[in-house]
Amino acid sequence: MRTPIIAGNWKMHKTVGEAVTLVRELLAGLGAVHDREVVICPPYTALFPLRPLLVGTAIQLGAQDVFYEAQGAYTGAVAPGMLVDVGCRYVIVGHSERRQYFGDTDASVNRKLLAALGSRLRPIMCVGESKPQRDSGEAEPVVTAQVRAGLAGVPAEQIAEVVIAYEPIWAIGTGDTATAADAQAMHLAIRQTLAELYGEERARAVRIQYGGSVKPENVDELMAQPDIDGALVGGASLKAESFLRIVHFQ
Ligand code: 13P
Repeated sequence: MRTPIIAGNWKMHKTVGEAVTLVRELLAGLGAVHDREVVICPPYTALFPLRPLLVGTAIQLGAQDVFYEAQGAYTGAVAPGMLVDVGCRYVIVGHSERRQYFGDTDASVNRKLLAALGSRLRPIMCVGESKPQRDSGEAEPVVTAQVRAGLAGVPAEQIAEVVIAYEPIWAIGTGDTATAADAQAMHLAIRQTLAELYGEERARAVRIQYGGSVKPENVDELMAQPDIDGALVGGASLKAESFLRIVHFQ
């Protein structure tokens, strides 16, 4: 029903040369993948050089962020059409690191998501609670509010194009994964929110990824949960061996 989607978020890692090397290793070890999607999100500087290596392969290209305007005097920003131009199919919006260090808010994330959809890019929208929010029992209302705000104005016909990534902030880069049961509970809450917004059937079509210390050792258990449809992988996507093992989850 939902095609699983494994995405690697390389964050601010890899020169062009290193990126080319990693992609060659990934392609060499990938084999045939028909029942899952594989996406890599390198830094902007590596997108264009990687494109020719990926054409006709099972690995799709994504970016880590985008601005919501189409062009203009926005120093340092990259437009959705520019990402399409270099071969991107996906773009991450609203990663917690963007929210923390670059001032992204639910409102700007929503604008980015709508701009991405308008350019036929598939947005991967990240949501997730902080440790204090989890400890005080607010995780679910915080995350479902992020989902509602981020999706404002998305028409029902386009909701299946959106991927949601649940990334509890306290699990990112810490080695501290949410338990499969906790992750599943949040994914279910997100899907219920989608059902309230778009109806049951459309909610069933949306892929929800888990992110936060996904590793070869925990991916199988996470992916076995009924509402976990993929993974957004940081650190473990930087080495071919670990990313390939995650891609080949059972
Ligand atoms: P880690 O897999 O390194 O915890 O990072 C997760 C993440 O932020 C992916 O977007």
